[in-house]
Amino acid sequence: MTDRVNVVEVSPRDGLQNEATFIVTEDKLELITRLIRAGMQCIEATAFVSPKWVPQMRDAAELFQQLPKTTDCRFPVLVPNLQGYTRAVACGVKEVAVFGAASEAFSEHNINASIDESLERFIPVLAQAKADGIAVRGYVSTVLGCPYQGHVPVADVVRVAKRLYQMGCYEISLGDTIGVGTPKAARNMLNAVATEVPMAHLAVHFHNTYGQALANVFACLEAGVRTVDASVSGTGGCPYAKGASGNLATEDLIYSLHGMGFDTGVDLAVLIETGAWLSEKLGRASNSNVTRARIA
Ligand code: HMG
Ligand code: MG
Repeated sequence: MTDRVNVVEVSPRDGLQNEATFIVTEDKLELITRLIRAGMQCIEATAFVSPKWVPQMRDAAELFQQLPKTTDCRFPVLVPNLQGYTRAVACGVKEVAVFGAASEAFSEHNINASIDESLERFIPVLAQAKADGIAVRGYVSTVLGCPYQGHVPVADVVRVAKRLYQMGCYEISLGDTIGVGTPKAARNMLNAVATEVPMAHLAVHFHNTYGQALANVFACLEAGVRTVDASVSGTGGCPYAKGASGNLATEDLIYSLHGMGFDTGVDLAVLIETGAWLSEKLGRASNSNVTRARIA
């Protein structure tokens, strides 16, 4: 049997949230439609965060309500608190993601709460989601370094990941928010978390600021992870993390996975067209090596 890797496509949310110019809802919907056509089975569609904090995501409700209905693709959305959860569920959302951090400083900057306050804030979200039958993913950011405090102890990553899992998150995505990690550090961090959260419930989320993302994925695949987040064209960035300059490009991930014999269900050619289309919309060259190589 072919070994399967599940790819969580985060471009409509992480890929676009840091864009200074507002991308019209119609273009966001076209991006999602193209990603579905490429075979994506899980697309993080948007974020029900404060529009004052992240203006690019202000059309979350409008966008979600217009998503294609006749697809098996899942559309999780970010929610930072019960208010975001309530807005999301009112639009028909079936899956949400809460997002915490392993670094105190980043947590304060990103969601205006300490780590413990943020975990407290997630409890009612998880409780309501359980009652509503809504699946909840959990993110831990800054797992390999923080733009404000620098070094992040692995024990802090393990503590937050374990807590989110115990609260009921079905999967914990470990985010190298500013892309500073290297393969051994990534694998060691993953293995440490896997002592508390089963590997089958872990995902990795690498930004590519230092060009390490694909190497880090490989190290983590060797350790057993089988869910990887990525963003077409290498778009991405967090407004509250200087250095979060782009996610791992999905095209580069898929090319590499298929080359190694993994199954992903994704059509690389359609994905490359999508990446090229998005780069043109954003008015700049793609961050994907594969797309640059294939599109003259
Ligand atoms: P706050 O200012 O402390 O919130 O922000 P508050 O509860 O005091 O409320 C202030 C105002 O915001 C009120 O409005 C609320 O109604 C409103 P006002 O009375 O002033 O008119 N508000 C909301 N509006 C809509 N939706 C909501 C919501 N909540 C409050 N959900 C808050 C706290 C968490 C809201 C804010 O800090 C926030 O929205 N932060 C989001 C930051 C963000 O989206 N960052 C990027 C995503 S994380 C990421 O990229 C990392 C990741 O990719 C993994 C990785 O790479 O590591 C996931
Ligand atoms: Mg991210």
